[in-house]
Amino acid sequence: MTVRPILTIGHPELRIVAEPVDPSIIAGPEVQALIDDLIETMRDANGAGLAATQIGAHLRIAVMEVGDNPRYPYKPRIPLTIAINPIIEPLDDEMVEINEGCLSVPMRGNVQRHVNVRVRYHDRAGVEHVEIKRGLTAGTWQHECDHLDGVLFIDRVEDPTTLATWEEFNEHHRAAFVERITAFVERVGS
Ligand code: NI
Repeated sequence: MTVRPILTIGHPELRIVAEPVDPSIIAGPEVQALIDDLIETMRDANGAGLAATQIGAHLRIAVMEVGDNPRYPYKPRIPLTIAINPIIEPLDDEMVEINEGCLSVPMRGNVQRHVNVRVRYHDRAGVEHVEIKRGLTAGTWQHECDHLDGVLFIDRVEDPTTLATWEEFNEHHRAAFVERITAFVERVGS
């Protein structure tokens, strides 16, 4: 396992659309080593998720995990999840405005995300999963899958006045966001 450098906004490789992983190579050493590096790098950076694109590997693999995360204390837990070839289908038109951050972007901003989605993916053992995700967890999935399409959350920010550095977010916006999103998480349960 190696902590790999995380590409930041402006690096052209963040805009590359990642290639699907042939299921026959999931068990192979290259893909398994890439997954180990993604987990190690995500944990080292205290991220809630990391897509292969962010370390310059252009395969459709993302990892997610939320424990007691100091970057996102309001986020419901996500067990360590390895999503290979993830596909997201919105289940309805319900949207929520989430203030997002990203290990590749030194700012936060408000983005509209689907509240209820179905995700399909393979795990690192090659097993296919079909699951329903809701709320902030659904938002995390949408954020990570966007990376695999070369999309950053900042591309989806409709109101640029919501953009803030972490420092200014913490000072001026965190309290109101945490209050609103905590009520949302209590309502949708995720
Ligand atoms: Ni990100």
